[in-house]
Amino acid sequence: MKKIGVLISGGGTNLQALIDNIHGDTAEIALVVSNKADVYGLTRAEQAGIPSATVSEQAFKNEKLFFAKIVELLQDYQCDGVILAGFMRILTEEFIDSFPNRIINIHPALIPSFCGEGYYGMHVHRAVVDYGVKVTGATVHFVNAVCDGGPIILQECVSVKDDDTPEDVQQRVLALEHRLLPKAVALFCQDRLVVEGRRVQILP
Ligand code: GAR
Repeated sequence: MKKIGVLISGGGTNLQALIDNIHGDTAEIALVVSNKADVYGLTRAEQAGIPSATVSEQAFKNEKLFFAKIVELLQDYQCDGVILAGFMRILTEEFIDSFPNRIINIHPALIPSFCGEGYYGMHVHRAVVDYGVKVTGATVHFVNAVCDGGPIILQECVSVKDDDTPEDVQQRVLALEHRLLPKAVALFCQDRLVVEGRRVQILP
């Protein structure tokens, strides 16, 4: 069974979806790392008996050292892959190079729309409502050096209704995320994802 590390920054509902749907089955969540102390995602890890750590950027001289510490922890726990489940930081090149094609991110929109620097969490759903698009969705993708620019593994859409608030959109997208992320991580852990350039082939 592959070991994965999950990086979070907040409530961790996507982490919970991974705990409920794949932990101990297709994957072992070996470690949860948060860059914020006292977030509910850490409680979720504890309740599931999964080791966790808080790594705060303030404790390090610079961003490189902060990310190097997270890499060290993930390697200590022998993680084969890393899942960004609501992790609100852009990874350094060194981090990405430590896990080539083995880092997966979930983004709460249809990449390449509403993505890139500054588009995270509620900012995304506000931008979606402001723009007036009729559909949005969720995207699970491999992480490369371009922010939100790596090869797409799974992507599905939901409709945006005329009277939706950003919070309404968030709830609809989150329900989709909770289905897509465990599915993508299971495919990764079963070695069923083949990356060919920008395209990801899913093996039967
Ligand atoms: C999720 O909607 C996730 O897609 C988003 O943050 C939320 C975390 O929720 N991630 C990003 O915006 C990354 N760019 P959660 O903590 O309840 O899983």
